[in-house]
Amino acid sequence: MLYVPADKPRAIDKARGLPCDAVVLDLEDAVLPAQKAAARAGAAQALREGGFGKPVLLRLNGLDTPHFQADLEAALLSAPAGIVLPKAEDPAAVRELHLGIPLWVMIETPPGVLRAAELAAVPGVAGLMVGANDLLLSLRARATPGRLPLLSALSAVILAARAAGVLALDAVYNDLQDGAGLEAECIQGRDLGFDGRTLIHPGQIEAANRVYGVSEQEAQAARELLHAWQEAQGQGLGVVQHAGRMVEELHARQARHTLARWEAEQG
Ligand code: COA
Ligand code: MG
Repeated sequence: MLYVPADKPRAIDKARGLPCDAVVLDLEDAVLPAQKAAARAGAAQALREGGFGKPVLLRLNGLDTPHFQADLEAALLSAPAGIVLPKAEDPAAVRELHLGIPLWVMIETPPGVLRAAELAAVPGVAGLMVGANDLLLSLRARATPGRLPLLSALSAVILAARAAGVLALDAVYNDLQDGAGLEAECIQGRDLGFDGRTLIHPGQIEAANRVYGVSEQEAQAARELLHAWQEAQGQGLGVVQHAGRMVEELHARQARHTLARWEAEQG
């Protein structure tokens, strides 16, 4: 998911042609207070004109800001594919929104992390998103390679999302020049269980798509595992050795899931 400041028409137009899975038009952190009205107008125009070929979501300012009510009205008028709610902390407040539009809840404060499971379980919530910049600030933690200071929060978000059956998206990577660092963080996020990540620049899309996508090699390994599993079933076996590893029914299920994703990605 690519963030685009809603007061940057040139970037919005660029996002139409980019191979990200979704666009988030931002009214919050990337927009100065004096620009909020212009950003709302920019978002409304972008949503009206369309042409993105992918879902376009709108990130509102926080519930307890003076901008929230006008943002919400703008969202209800322009019907984005989803609403991103920053700095979510109170499940009761989120439950009261009743928007009829899928909600993406940002976990980026200590109370939000501690209540992530309740937030994920609110009806209408489609996913959780990590806001690492705000989280680091509020934890008084530092951004380090490997993200040790954030690991417990990242895992809490994934646990909450999985328990509620919703998606979990990893945070943004601030260093636009550091391709290797971005790739390492994509791999870490994927391995932790995230379904994808949020991005801030077009140059970050390729690495995220590659790391979170299914490679031809992974698809082939899944096909081979399924073949071995079918043979085992023919012999009435419930567990078998394949490529030096134990394979049970759950691995076959996982391989089918991998192949389904691969086929979806091939279009
Ligand atoms: N979405 C779409 N296009 C973007 C983009 C984005 N997030 N970020 C940059 N671009 C475009 C620029 O408009 C520029 O297009 P152009 O060549 O047609 O002028 C091109 O990509 C190259 O941009 P570049 O010069 O490398 O970056 P920049 O200095 O213009 O912008 C940022 C850098 C960080 C200000 C910008 O990437 C940005 O605003 N990112 C999103 C920030 C955000 O939404 N934050 C909130 C969530 S944390
Ligand atoms: Mg934030």
